[in-house]
Amino acid sequence: MNTDTFVLVEVNNVWKLYGKFVANENISMNIEEGEIVALLGPNGAGKTTLVKQLYGELNPNKGEIRVLGSKPTDRGIKKHMGVVPQECEPYGDLTVWDNIYYMARIKGVDKERAKERTKELLEQLELSDKGKTLGRDLSGGLKRRLLISMALVNDPKLIILDEPTTGLDPQARREVWDILLKLKKEGKSILLTTHYLEEAERLANRIYFIYRKIIVEGTPNEVKDKFANWYEVIDYSTGNVYRVKGEDEVKRIIQQLNGKFEVRAPSLEDVYLEVIKSVQGVH
Ligand SMILES: Nc1ncnc2c1ncn2[C@@H]1O[C@H](COP(=O)(O)OP(=O)(O)O)[C@@H](O)[C@H]1O
Ligand SMILES: [Mg+2]
Repeated sequence: MNTDTFVLVEVNNVWKLYGKFVANENISMNIEEGEIVALLGPNGAGKTTLVKQLYGELNPNKGEIRVLGSKPTDRGIKKHMGVVPQECEPYGDLTVWDNIYYMARIKGVDKERAKERTKELLEQLELSDKGKTLGRDLSGGLKRRLLISMALVNDPKLIILDEPTTGLDPQARREVWDILLKLKKEGKSILLTTHYLEEAERLANRIYFIYRKIIVEGTPNEVKDKFANWYEVIDYSTGNVYRVKGEDEVKRIIQQLNGKFEVRAPSLEDVYLEVIKSVQGVH
């Protein structure tokens, strides 16, 4: 990563408790300008709890969060952030156009600019032919697109999306991915939470695997290397599977096999399973 990158979000040793229950334990992470960062973890891992603190809806019990140098609860910082919370819905009784327009007005955009911005966003997110459709009549995928456009009304530097594709069909999921990659190309910084490995691998420059605390972090490849530094040699003649460390060991085993075999490198899914196994019993 080049040295003049700018750190947009800094999380230092954050703890969040609900009563005595520790939801986030000593979390440190950062988001640099222009990157997509994925908070990856299973249900209940503490992803929503953490992102709510990033957009100022919850306060840490301990530790510190800085967004563009300010506290997330500082009003001034909100105009640089666009948020799509988990389980958020557009207004069902408003049209797609009005949902975007009124969100812009709420965020303090003046009337003329709000109209322009609504038109721009409808085009950008390919919703122009849905302008008059009511929020409640949209498919799940279109609702998500509308919510993303509503998060963009103030042209934020940082976009936070809590499980942006959960519940979407594969086609709609890919459409959301394309939108996020396009936004990244435009220079936006994005934090998303997901429990889909494929999503983190496709989109993210860096992954933080969270399970109450950060278990492992790095690029998708680094995460794989750190948590699954093994190969599987599958001997098709006997059906035996050997899990071995290091390429030399792989070669040694292969030399002993005759007939058909396959060498399989770990997928991110294997990493996921290994991580879950390693932290079971944590709660
Ligand atoms: N308001 C709350 N009060 C008590 N416990 C909560 C509250 N919100 C979340 N939790 C618990 O904290 C843990 C983390 O939840 P959450 O941050 O929503 O995880 P995720 O988004 O990764 O699914 C879960 O065990 C959840 O039940
Ligand atoms: Mg959640």
